[in-house]
Amino acid sequence: MNTASVAESITETIHRSPDPCVIVIFGAAGDLTKRLLMPALYNLARNQLLPKAFAIVGVAHTPMSQADFRSKLTQEIHEFATVPVDDQIWQSLEQRLYYLSGEFQHDNTYSQLQHLLTQVDQECGTQGNYLFYLATAANFFQDIIGQLGAAGLMQETADHWRRTIIEKPFGHDLDSARALNKTISTVLMESQIYRIDHYLGKETVQNILVFRFGNGLFEPIWNRDHIDHVQITVAETVGVESRGGFYEGTGAVRDMVQNHLFQLLAMVAMEPPLSFDADAVRDEKSKLLKSIQPFTAETVFTHAVRGQYGEGTVNEKLLPAYRSEPRVATDSSTETYAALKLTIDNWRWADVPFYLRTGKRLPRRLTEIAIQFKQVPSLLFRQTSIDRLTPNFLTIRIQPNEGIHLQFGAKVPGPTVKMSAVEMDFCYKDYFGSTPSTGYETLLYDCMIGDATLFQRSDNVELGWSVVQPILDVWETAVPQEFPNYAAGSWGPKAADALLARDGRYWRTEP
Ligand code: BG6
Repeated sequence: MNTASVAESITETIHRSPDPCVIVIFGAAGDLTKRLLMPALYNLARNQLLPKAFAIVGVAHTPMSQADFRSKLTQEIHEFATVPVDDQIWQSLEQRLYYLSGEFQHDNTYSQLQHLLTQVDQECGTQGNYLFYLATAANFFQDIIGQLGAAGLMQETADHWRRTIIEKPFGHDLDSARALNKTISTVLMESQIYRIDHYLGKETVQNILVFRFGNGLFEPIWNRDHIDHVQITVAETVGVESRGGFYEGTGAVRDMVQNHLFQLLAMVAMEPPLSFDADAVRDEKSKLLKSIQPFTAETVFTHAVRGQYGEGTVNEKLLPAYRSEPRVATDSSTETYAALKLTIDNWRWADVPFYLRTGKRLPRRLTEIAIQFKQVPSLLFRQTSIDRLTPNFLTIRIQPNEGIHLQFGAKVPGPTVKMSAVEMDFCYKDYFGSTPSTGYETLLYDCMIGDATLFQRSDNVELGWSVVQPILDVWETAVPQEFPNYAAGSWGPKAADALLARDGRYWRTEP
């Protein structure tokens, strides 16, 4: 049996069939539904991972008949599916699509929903198990959950479950995240809440735990004795394009750091959980986030860098400055780039800096975690022509070209002692082939089987916000004078290079 079939046989044995259920999508006429949720549900159907008794109810304010909803989704699936659409599979899914048009704030939407769900249960045998997916703008979350609660639709019994997936952004800052947690906890138990961070749906992110804790080789050196520092990069070539209205009040710290980058940080730095049980994993994440040394008003200036892109060239195309994007203020202070130096105050990581950076309109799309190991004492090489030893980097490539890469030094063949950096490279697609997916398949499936490991618990979200809150506060009051401070298509502001240079280090991926 080759490696791929071993992996397949393992996954096959652990797949559980979800209970009969209905997925109710609020915001069913929107972008997320057509681009990601429906293609993900189609992939689950294709892999026979949906329950036999299953239905989807779309809710949106767009007036549309059920027949129109079905034909809209049929047209869209052909555009957005990650694999060619098999008509037979799609038709069986299409027959189980229902639609309700209504305003999210109106009581009668929920009485109609209740009615429709009873009908769906009878027609499809879904037994009263409902998964509510909030794919709407964040300002509707409280209303929808409150209304579902008031209509009795969140009530669980021994015979049926009720769960809710909440999209990001979960809050706008620490106070609003706390308030949202508080309000929804009056309607839902924590075990019914699935706060999504789509980074946790990525195979390469899930693999960090297997890589660290499923191999004897790495964990013994995963600490301050052996690791010099860690760099986490999430670089995007895209700008904000049509999302200016949303992004103006958001910025890179809220949009990317507090959630996606902190998830990567927690996965790479947390202690081994007692098990892969949801709470065991989330306990360790919380402990890690709690150990981050809090920013002060002073350290925001020394340990956090913000940037905003100006006009520039990406892939030989001239692109506008952020301030010239639609629905962006011409004097906007919103950051499209952020870099942070974090210190983790625990025994494993004391004195090991973690450098995080993310930005839009950077030269290439790249998400990676690079771990630099400590240098050996160089005395052995004093009498040789080697003046600088090659650093050992272990790089976990999250996307694209998913894999793991190790850089080490080797002797260049020849009579003199010369050293060169060489590489060992593991690429997912070479071992496992590439199975195009949206990244939402695992998350939807896990929610249907009631596994919350890959979802954020309330304390995880609040701790993430607490770390960035001092940065948000300082940046809000100190208006950046130097924006725009990096050209589209460059690797970000000079100050981000200086952040590492001060410590005698440099970002691994240079232009
Ligand atoms: C989203 C952000 O959460 O993640 C976007 O709102 C960002 O601004 C996106 O572009 C990046 O996700 P991915 O999966 O493309 O790395």
